[in-house]
Amino acid sequence: MITVALERLQKIMADAGVASRRKCEEIIAAGRVNVDGVTVTRPGFKADPEKSAIEVDGRPIHAARRVYYLLNKPKGVLSTTFDDFGRPTVVNLIPDEKRRLFPVGRLDEDTEGLILLTNDGELANILTHPRYGVEKTYSAKLRGVITREAVEKLKKGFRLEDGRARADRVTVTYRGKTASSVRMTMREGRNHIVRRMLAKVGFPARHLRRDRIAFLTLHGLGKGEYRRLTRQEVQGLYKHAEQTQKQPARNKKSRPNL
Ligand code: URA
Repeated sequence: MITVALERLQKIMADAGVASRRKCEEIIAAGRVNVDGVTVTRPGFKADPEKSAIEVDGRPIHAARRVYYLLNKPKGVLSTTFDDFGRPTVVNLIPDEKRRLFPVGRLDEDTEGLILLTNDGELANILTHPRYGVEKTYSAKLRGVITREAVEKLKKGFRLEDGRARADRVTVTYRGKTASSVRMTMREGRNHIVRRMLAKVGFPARHLRRDRIAFLTLHGLGKGEYRRLTRQEVQGLYKHAEQTQKQPARNKKSRPNL
């Protein structure tokens, strides 16, 4: 079945720079907006940002097409859009994309692995907001051989300087004589959270990689490589967040029906 990415009209208009969403609702209610030649005044009307011909006061608007990239960030690259000191950023690794991209959440300079880049602020919000609890899985190589108690502490949770933190799942993947490795699944993403938690239980990470965001994995992506998400994957991320969110939102936010 071919599905279409629909979004609320006021969101498409706001994203295209017409006005704030609130103001756009008023503009729609005032009968100033045509979609495919028909005047629309109904609140909640959805259109296809890429295909619908939308006019405000008879003038076409140009919706910013949504783009989504999955990048395997190497060490030494910053998760920002621009660096004042000219250091490489994740955005520099996708040089052919002329639309303004921003990274979803961040990975430390020293951390490698999966990071999403997009111009879809709504998806960025739901992937990073703790309310949606979207899972991210990390592999960490540790100094020292992690103990059972330390693993239990990570799972049970404890206080850090900025509040409680706990891992959803922890698996020891390697136990050597002087080093060990763990796989940790988190549902939140405060700054340096995994490194801080591991340091707190006495087994600091000497290497950290993010292997998974929801159902997206590093599969097929070498260091520094990226690919576009498919429409199904984008739809899947919205669905995933709907399923994992902690409390059903009273005012359900608009989301593209891809
Ligand atoms: N936790 C960290 O400590 N670092 C990251 O880059 C991501 C999560």
